[in-house]
Amino acid sequence: MKAMAAPGYGPLDAITQIEAPLPQPRRGEVRVHVIASALNPADHKVVLGTLKFLHARNRPLVVGYDFAGSVDAVGPGVDDFSVGDDVFGFLPYGPFNDRGAFAEALIAKTSEIAKKPKGVSYEIAAAAATTGVTAIQSIRDLGKLPAQGGELLVTGASGGVGSIAIGIGKKLGANVTAVGSGNGLEVARKLGANEVIDRKTTALPGDIRERFDVVFDAAAAYRWREWHVALKNGGAFISTLPSAGLVADKLRSLFSSTRVGFVNVKSRPADLALLGKWLEEGLEVSLASTIGVRDVATGLAQLQKSGGRIAVNVASGF
Ligand SMILES: NC(=O)c1ccc[n+]([C@@H]2O[C@H](COP(=O)([O-])OP(=O)(O)OC[C@H]3O[C@@H](n4cnc5c(N)ncnc54)[C@H](OP(=O)(O)O)[C@@H]3O)[C@@H](O)[C@H]2O)c1
Repeated sequence: MKAMAAPGYGPLDAITQIEAPLPQPRRGEVRVHVIASALNPADHKVVLGTLKFLHARNRPLVVGYDFAGSVDAVGPGVDDFSVGDDVFGFLPYGPFNDRGAFAEALIAKTSEIAKKPKGVSYEIAAAAATTGVTAIQSIRDLGKLPAQGGELLVTGASGGVGSIAIGIGKKLGANVTAVGSGNGLEVARKLGANEVIDRKTTALPGDIRERFDVVFDAAAAYRWREWHVALKNGGAFISTLPSAGLVADKLRSLFSSTRVGFVNVKSRPADLALLGKWLEEGLEVSLASTIGVRDVATGLAQLQKSGGRIAVNVASGF
């Protein structure tokens, strides 16, 4: 099969097309013929070697986490998926995952996939997978947003996680305030944010006091120590990236009435299924662009510069 691979850690433009053996599914696994994928910051962090633990150190290095496609082989003991089923999901972010989605086929455990939502394109399903589940697990599970009428603030409105988190916040019944810049402001309004704040012209949190149940720092750009004044009693600041500063914040928060959390997104079929249902109901995914898989190096360089959701045509891209 064809795949896009880096020879090892190094510049993004070292990613080239290779020929790799077609993987075979084992017990509890399926093989997915990949039709679409999407770019995540983790892809360039792994290839550049800045966050090596997000992937196994295998060579050549095929990255790509998000995927949508059709099952073309099933291993023993699989009875909930059959050949021909359209599925979507994402591969695990961690050192034991040696698989990649920038390839014609990949092996997925049945616990890593759900049926692709009907009437939703492969590109949109793939582009929603990591970001959508990250938003669900951050806002609902870690943030413990109240069931209805919660006050949610989301940063990184033009980014992959931040943009989908706006719509997911609305699905979770929240009043959503989005923080963004440039095109992100328009994206946030289009996705239904109740209030939009331009981070380039507004000091944050400024004079906002005890207003939010959850501040979801999808952009991983802020600290609890700046934002805790804007949280209600019992509210939570959730980040997508742990840092030494945030660990210190977490310790300090133990002596306060608010909480700090870091998400570590995990595939859960129930969360993928909920996301799929919302996509079928019209949850929007804001795509910055769609590229062919042979252009992932250029796409990742673009993602590094400006953020945003970039979908990848895999099946028709080689
Ligand atoms: N821990 C996990 O499980 C997990 C899962 C998924 C993603 N992540 C991480 O989450 C982060 C965001 O992912 P993504 O896919 O949304 O990335 P992205 O598409 O690159 O978006 C990042 C967004 O952050 C905003 N931003 C950039 N610089 C900023 C600054 N200095 N201050 C405030 N906002 C800034 C920008 O939006 P505006 O210009 O509109 O503000 C930008 O579009 C990445 O670090 C990613 O690796 C972690």
